[in-house]
Amino acid sequence: MRILIYGGGGREHALAWKLSQSELVEKIYLYKPNPLMKNLGNEIEAADFELLAKKAKENGIDTIVVGPELPLTEGIGNVFRRWGFKVFGPDARESKLESSKVFAREFMKRNNLPTPNFKAIVEGANPSECLNEFSPPYVIKADGLAGGKGTKIVQDIAGAISILDDYLSGRAFKGAGKTTVIEEYLEGYEISAMCLWDGNTLLPIELAHDYKRIFDNDEGENTGGMGSYSPVRLTDKEKDDIYTLFSDLEKALKKENLRYTGVLYIGLMLTNKGPFILEFNVRFGDPETQCVLPRLRTDFGKVIEYTVGKRLDELHLDWSDDPCVCLVIASDGYPQSPKTDVELLIPFEKAIDEKILLFGAGITAKDGRLFNTGGRVLNIVAIGSDCKEKVYSFAETIKFQTKYYRKDIGKGRCL
Ligand code: AMP
Ligand code: GLY
Repeated sequence: MRILIYGGGGREHALAWKLSQSELVEKIYLYKPNPLMKNLGNEIEAADFELLAKKAKENGIDTIVVGPELPLTEGIGNVFRRWGFKVFGPDARESKLESSKVFAREFMKRNNLPTPNFKAIVEGANPSECLNEFSPPYVIKADGLAGGKGTKIVQDIAGAISILDDYLSGRAFKGAGKTTVIEEYLEGYEISAMCLWDGNTLLPIELAHDYKRIFDNDEGENTGGMGSYSPVRLTDKEKDDIYTLFSDLEKALKKENLRYTGVLYIGLMLTNKGPFILEFNVRFGDPETQCVLPRLRTDFGKVIEYTVGKRLDELHLDWSDDPCVCLVIASDGYPQSPKTDVELLIPFEKAIDEKILLFGAGITAKDGRLFNTGGRVLNIVAIGSDCKEKVYSFAETIKFQTKYYRKDIGKGRCL
């Protein structure tokens, strides 16, 4: 296989790292890689999807793996399929499972999948009347993509009304909130259940926990994820319930012809009434991928090949029992307004000596020096029984003036 990996965050870096170990992958090409992953493949540039597909053909690429949700929503899958590539990722239509909260919730409701009560509203609705149908805390979600920032959970009704005004008027997130969902708040433990999906078989991969809030003990604002851990400890009952849910979900996806080749990520809340679906994503999670892939023993090239070749019914996945943790290094001010352009000094030799994996994220290189470009900067990953101690002692050795990270990654239902 000659594979193009689209995207340059920590997730795509982990995908490229794992594919670089595959016996089935002849060559890797990278679109917009971060500087720490450039050695894993050949960089390829293009102004739009059509030009990228053309260049990919010229380079003999046969398969594209798309990391982020935005290009999928914008139709990169449609373009590459039209050019005859194998695509790991959905077309724009199926991407709505992630890019429209209303589409996803209505799909769940129609198919009796466990979903919280919800109400979709548009401009002109009376916010306080709509909120009165729910009790606090109020969960308010912009319908469209909002870079992971479109969900707000607020206690007071005045705060909820002001968010709704902002969303419905179209002022927030370039209009992504013109349709907004209000939904019932679910209490419980959250897990990330990623499944491979080929249109016929939904094949679960190992579960992970994502630490979504900015501060320790899950306090403060939601972020893209401050760390992750795999595996997650579950009771037998929870496992059974989750497998029943997957089986119902597989049937519903087929019934509604939401068939594609790639990943369906199911955000689940384990409540005292069983698992409920919080959200769908149509791609690998970030930072979950960074802590799940190091545990995979099966050739990852084979995993991609069997997914795009619609042969998941023949695939058996083999996993290491060792736990794996990913600690995200962020910059002060994240998620609202992270400080950027701050230099990073990373002890790369030490990482090699200590078997630490480093996956870059919001980083750029200038004259051989590294500077941060975004809020989430670097992922420090270790596997094995001492993985937590290892990532934390490594984090201390990174020189980065605006360095911020949570101190409790690995707590919770971890081994
Ligand atoms: P979403 O934008 O749907 O991905 O939600 C972002 C995060 O908000 C989730 O990962 C949960 O931590 C939290 N969340 C979303 N919906 C709910 C809900 N109905 N009840 C409780 N927490 C929620
Ligand atoms: N970590 C959550 C996500 O990838 O959406």
